[in-house]
Amino acid sequence: MRARSLHDAVSCAGVRVVSTSSLPIDLVAQVTAALPGASVDLPREGHAGVAALDLTDADALVCLLLDRVDAALLARAPKLRVVANCAVGVDNIDLAAATAARVAVTNTPDVLTEATAELAFALLLAAARRLGEGERLVRSGAWTGWALDQLLGVQLLGKTLGIVGMGRIGRAMARRALGFGMRVIYADPSLHPDVAEARRVSVDELFATADAISLHCPLTPETRRLVDARRLALAKPSAILVNTARGGCVDEPALIAALEAGRLAGAGLDVYDREPALDPRLLTCPRLVLAPHIGSATTETRTQMAQLCADAVIDVLSGRRPQHLVNGEVWP
Ligand code: GLV
Repeated sequence: MRARSLHDAVSCAGVRVVSTSSLPIDLVAQVTAALPGASVDLPREGHAGVAALDLTDADALVCLLLDRVDAALLARAPKLRVVANCAVGVDNIDLAAATAARVAVTNTPDVLTEATAELAFALLLAAARRLGEGERLVRSGAWTGWALDQLLGVQLLGKTLGIVGMGRIGRAMARRALGFGMRVIYADPSLHPDVAEARRVSVDELFATADAISLHCPLTPETRRLVDARRLALAKPSAILVNTARGGCVDEPALIAALEAGRLAGAGLDVYDREPALDPRLLTCPRLVLAPHIGSATTETRTQMAQLCADAVIDVLSGRRPQHLVNGEVWP
């Protein structure tokens, strides 16, 4: 337990902010304007692995979902007061260890909701209409022209989308599906009467009845491998799976087996179990559309995410409760 409280008056000279990544905002200007005399270290471009950084005198850390923040890292950063994670998911952070060390953890919800739902819907459309295969065919030069039975996909109108995790992004996905004339069912620990058109079902019923399934849940011990061989066997062979949540929610070998055996009509993945390493079978798997974890990757959203991180750092170091505090226990 640290001796001082989060609200201790901060002398800005000597205060140090470290970012593992360059950011699309001027972090140095913002921090030094708010905390005169503070220093800010960040790479000129790209991402520097957190393992390589000296955090001995860091008061604040801005990090990416690529950075594992655990008890070992916190032990290297005895002055740390805040970890601002530039992501909504915080599965890269050992929250219990951060809370025990009285380090505030913040994330970036809301600003990435629409961008992520747009990408999820893009993957759904791409998988349903076999856009990945179509693009590869055209680029290969092997396309011989229009054919009545070429690359037949499925129409979304009138089909049922099953949403696992009806949080902000799940609800944004539901709005898009309803706009496309789809029916919506969802599985979530909570009831969401605000989405009146959507019916709540169990995860198993969702897998058994949906024509398309989209994951929007956080990765937790409960959701790890939520999509496994048993649930995939419940799904219709005409079903499509979309994952823009976390790779760990899907048992990848089971998904590959289902796609290879034609027991699933298609899938669209933006996230992987051990990214950026990929199971090589994903690259040859039929009817699979692959994206490189770009759910929130719009200029607008990434700028807003970086801004939320800067705000969180400045708030905590100024003694203010940050807007998106994940471990509220650290703030009396
Ligand atoms: C992206 O995957 C995020 O959690 O923000």
